[in-house]
Amino acid sequence: MRIQDARAVVTGGASGLGNAVARHIVSCGGRVTLLDVQEGPGLEAARELGANAGFVRCDVSSENEVNAAMQAAAERMGGLNLLVNCAGVIGAGRMLGRSGPMAGDFFAKVVQINLIGTFLCDKAAAAIMQQNTPTADGERGVLIHTASIAAFEGQIGQAAYSATKAGLVGMTLPIARELAQFGIRCVSIAPGIFRTPMVASMPPEVQESLARQIPFPARLGEPEEFARLVAAVFEIPMINGTTIRLDGAIRMQPR
Ligand SMILES: NC(=O)c1ccc[n+]([C@@H]2O[C@H](COP(=O)([O-])OP(=O)(O)OC[C@H]3O[C@@H](n4cnc5c(N)ncnc54)[C@H](O)[C@@H]3O)[C@@H](O)[C@H]2O)c1
Repeated sequence: MRIQDARAVVTGGASGLGNAVARHIVSCGGRVTLLDVQEGPGLEAARELGANAGFVRCDVSSENEVNAAMQAAAERMGGLNLLVNCAGVIGAGRMLGRSGPMAGDFFAKVVQINLIGTFLCDKAAAAIMQQNTPTADGERGVLIHTASIAAFEGQIGQAAYSATKAGLVGMTLPIARELAQFGIRCVSIAPGIFRTPMVASMPPEVQESLARQIPFPARLGEPEEFARLVAAVFEIPMINGTTIRLDGAIRMQPR
């Protein structure tokens, strides 16, 4: 499948990595629908992208909202063959924080958005994709998860976040195996440290410390680089059931 033929839903598309993915797909001639909880920035992002982009307000942690948004997106794009899950929250916090042990509800909320939200979007998209007419290669669609290198070497304060990202890595292969019969692939990308509003929300000394730990290129990743990998995954059928690190060889230290 060529990226200009993408009919893509991008969650978290109002900001950061998701927004860069949407821009890249539209610049290549594809169509996108942004799903996000941020209505103003989402509408503005879609307006900037022009006629090949639209926005649907959707909280990915709500099954009903996801089902309705996925259906609406497929209808307005005239199909759906790519889902890029970028919606996520940073969920930082120590198990034994300054103000006491982390509340179980806080941990659960991070899981509900980052992990269960991705699963809800995956299955709603796959249910639509399985009806697609297959390409000559037998392909019907691609599901992409945005994991993180915190799935593998989470830092202090990332117990909740790392658990969700490791969950995304873990479900990639069983989903790819199950959906192989429909020609639907599932791939996770584990970014290192990228220049987005999420990273900008970290204290400057944390950002500097992380950038110093990247062997090469010794800088934060650009969201456009993430978007180009998404396009490559979409276009290369052999990439399936795996997690690709995109991280300049960083291996994060405990803090
Ligand atoms: N920036 C990085 O360095 C980095 C590294 C590794 C992984 N990631 C992952 O990449 C993804 C995108 O991160 P980003 O850096 O672009 O962050 P970001 O904060 O710029 O964008 C995240 C978007 O998700 C949306 N969102 C949050 N909760 C939502 C919900 N319940 N329903 C729908 N939308 C929701 C936000 O409104 C926002 O627009 C996240 O999953 C993040 O964990 C980012």
